[in-house]
Amino acid sequence: DKGNHRHFMQKEIYEQPIVVAQTLRSYLRRIDDQVSLPVPDFDLSAIRRVTIVACGTSFYAGMVAKYWFEQFARVPVDLDVASEFRYRAPVMEDGGLALFISQSGETADTLAALRHARAEGQKIAVVVNVPTSSMAREADLLLPTHAGPEIGVASTKAFTCQLAVLAALAANFARAKGRLTPEDEKAIVGHLAEAPAAMNQALAQDEAIQALAPLIAPARDVLYLGRGTDYPLALEGALKLKEISYIHAEGYAAGEMKHGPIALIDEAVPVIVIAPSGPLFEKTVSNMQEVQARGGKVVLISDEEGIEAAGEGCLATLALPKVHPLIAPMVYAVPVQLLAYHVAVLKGTDVDQPRNLAKSVTVE
Ligand code: M6R
Repeated sequence: DKGNHRHFMQKEIYEQPIVVAQTLRSYLRRIDDQVSLPVPDFDLSAIRRVTIVACGTSFYAGMVAKYWFEQFARVPVDLDVASEFRYRAPVMEDGGLALFISQSGETADTLAALRHARAEGQKIAVVVNVPTSSMAREADLLLPTHAGPEIGVASTKAFTCQLAVLAALAANFARAKGRLTPEDEKAIVGHLAEAPAAMNQALAQDEAIQALAPLIAPARDVLYLGRGTDYPLALEGALKLKEISYIHAEGYAAGEMKHGPIALIDEAVPVIVIAPSGPLFEKTVSNMQEVQARGGKVVLISDEEGIEAAGEGCLATLALPKVHPLIAPMVYAVPVQLLAYHVAVLKGTDVDQPRNLAKSVTVE
């Protein structure tokens, strides 16, 4: 049932504050401000390397997690798409942790990668939305997302719930590694708890986002740029736009622009820059200015502070609430999803059942 929404995708975008809160409730203990994960039957503190494997949007959640695991727990992380991982003879030390992320829990390549990692002596952690799925059954450490059934082929609420679980896992890992003081943990729990409200504020920008759709819909190509954890968000934004509007879109690490993609820039290629104010902001802005200097039309997604500093000369800007960097990926997911959605609606495509795509990819 779509309720009063036109599409399942729209409904699922709007459900995010609730389902992220629901997911966080099972991983955060507010009484003593600790993250609380199911206790695995292996020693997390002994894990020396993590291998993250997933496909599509779930892979981008894994990419964000890599930044977090390395930053908070100082554990080296390998990251691969499942279809590559399986065929590249990856090196996995005995007793490493392999982490699989999947909405459906049935994606054929991810499931095969899981079995391969187990055969290579890895402990298996799974972040999955369907609790009865194959991947859920085969996990040593099962970390469910509580997004509820996701019907739209384009994944939205599963992604932000994956991020919520992965942030809690990163904090848990950091604690196990002796790298998190109780004060730091309390702060992390506090930041995560703010995510649902901030996502609501992002949803409140829907009209402004819809107003951007006519600027994007006529384009043949669209680029998305981001740095740090906004880089996977740029990739996710481009994937969403491709999937449902059929516009060619690519995401790039902002700093990579001058190594090639900037050759594509002209006034017909909108460039969506995802850049919350913060330590990486200046760097991303200078990449953005390189684009503008070549006639590129920029849509800057930031907060008031960022837009104040760098919004001039942009084709359009979109102001989100100013949030802690830890929850920024969850909050910035909302406008990239909504932008793809409105462009697709404007183009009249089948938003929930885009051509050539299946909700669950059970062939390899
Ligand atoms: O069920 P999974 O999370 O394993 O699915 C992975 C991808 O097939 C999925 O994320 C796909 O890329 C979506 N259509 C993205 O919107």
